[in-house]
Amino acid sequence: MAGALREHLVAYFEEHHKLLEAGALQLLLSDRQPLALSRELLARSDESSPFVTREMVEAALARRQAPAHRAEVAVAGLVASANARRAAVPFELLSEGFTGPPVATQPIAAFGALFQSRYRALARMLRGRPDLPNLRPIRELRASEGTSSVIGMVSGVRETPQRHHLILTVDDETGSLEALVPKDSPGSRVTFLSDEVVGLRLTFGKEPGRIPRVAHVERPDIPSTRPMGRSTTPRRVMFLSDLHVGSRSFLSESWAHLVEFLRGRGPHAELAASIDFVVIAGDLVDGIGVYPRQERDLAISDVVEQYAEVGRRLAELPDRLTIVAIPGNHDAVSPAEPQPALPANLAFLLPPNVRALANPSSFALSGVVVEAYHGRSFDDLIPAIPGASYSRPTEVMKRMLLMRHLAPIYGDRTPLAPLPRDGLVIDPAPDILVTGHSHTYGVDRYRGVLLLNASTWQSETEYQRMRNISPVPARAAVVDLSTLALATLDFSAGRLIVGGPET
Ligand SMILES: [Fe+2]
Ligand SMILES: [Fe+2]
Repeated sequence: MAGALREHLVAYFEEHHKLLEAGALQLLLSDRQPLALSRELLARSDESSPFVTREMVEAALARRQAPAHRAEVAVAGLVASANARRAAVPFELLSEGFTGPPVATQPIAAFGALFQSRYRALARMLRGRPDLPNLRPIRELRASEGTSSVIGMVSGVRETPQRHHLILTVDDETGSLEALVPKDSPGSRVTFLSDEVVGLRLTFGKEPGRIPRVAHVERPDIPSTRPMGRSTTPRRVMFLSDLHVGSRSFLSESWAHLVEFLRGRGPHAELAASIDFVVIAGDLVDGIGVYPRQERDLAISDVVEQYAEVGRRLAELPDRLTIVAIPGNHDAVSPAEPQPALPANLAFLLPPNVRALANPSSFALSGVVVEAYHGRSFDDLIPAIPGASYSRPTEVMKRMLLMRHLAPIYGDRTPLAPLPRDGLVIDPAPDILVTGHSHTYGVDRYRGVLLLNASTWQSETEYQRMRNISPVPARAAVVDLSTLALATLDFSAGRLIVGGPET
């Protein structure tokens, strides 16, 4: 574990262009929450120096003792209260997408700060790449230099009328640029999405006034070689999503089978006993007024009562489990993303072994980094990406990793909260990316990252029938944290079917 963690930390800092001094690395490795501490160090590090020193780690540790930090440490601390005799189960909170309400009072300024934060976070990942030589701010581009590179946020794409080349408009903090992406060139193969951040290698022609051509497109992506987080023990995590408690179509019978399984009744008791964590990727309840005439589909029409019922359902699961739950677009928090965690006046209705976190959130389970996001942005990304569909959301999730962003498109169906830090940037690179929202079940791998779309516990509703969405309900994914091998548990047939390692 120490060896794997060592490589993991070094790679994490490398991706942010930082060198860990030996003493700093040693101190990080001896900490209880090395990943959270690393994140904190990066957040506070000075852009001008590439080094992370032992003194910087010591300063971060001292800050952790400060009173302002205590609440955070309590959340990030070990969750071992349920059973004092058991060894502590390490749960490490890395970051919650939601960082408090916007500071700027003026909406334009607030969104400006959000996009600046996004640009800076993603540009930092792209800087220094060999495929982006002669990197320049847009304002300092000189056609006479022949080849130059820029990093920009996509603000527009249009097609030339005759030849169907693409004219791409990108912005950085110094200006705006139009560049031509030739039809059928490698750069034109991946659709450009509004507000994603890309690196462009440009070539300038001889004739003055011609716009530059894009010779290469570089996206932030997941590093192709990187050490993965792995637990030393074969403990497991179960992923669930979209319970929709309160809906008439909540699958209470399948849920009862899930409860039986987790309580160790039946032939798979050993598998059940190896599960330490349950992660729920949002839409705990069906909510009220989420879509037109929803009241006809509700069994519980009061939202507080819906959470009380979720509380009762989750209390049926063994209390030794650490349950991590993020909200979705049906939950009773602001719909703008990143969404805050459930407020205390609802979270108290859930059993004490539930950690209500923001959407999205990044946390480590026994050293395995999980990024949990509900998946609302599928509603924007699926129509925008040719060939994408709700039945195969993992294809869209690959795209999220490629751009290192969960919901780039502004002004469409996914409302964005104008926070000073863009909490939808995917950082650190996860070992597991889990989403829900599409109510389908999907498993895939991308550059070593396990992608998981975690089903639903609601059968098809009238509204979904209308929108042509066919759910794949009552599946649970169980992942071994020492190997990331996955088993699919299917509770939809009224009994448990344990599926092969991958589906
Ligand atoms: Fe849902
Ligand atoms: Fe949803």
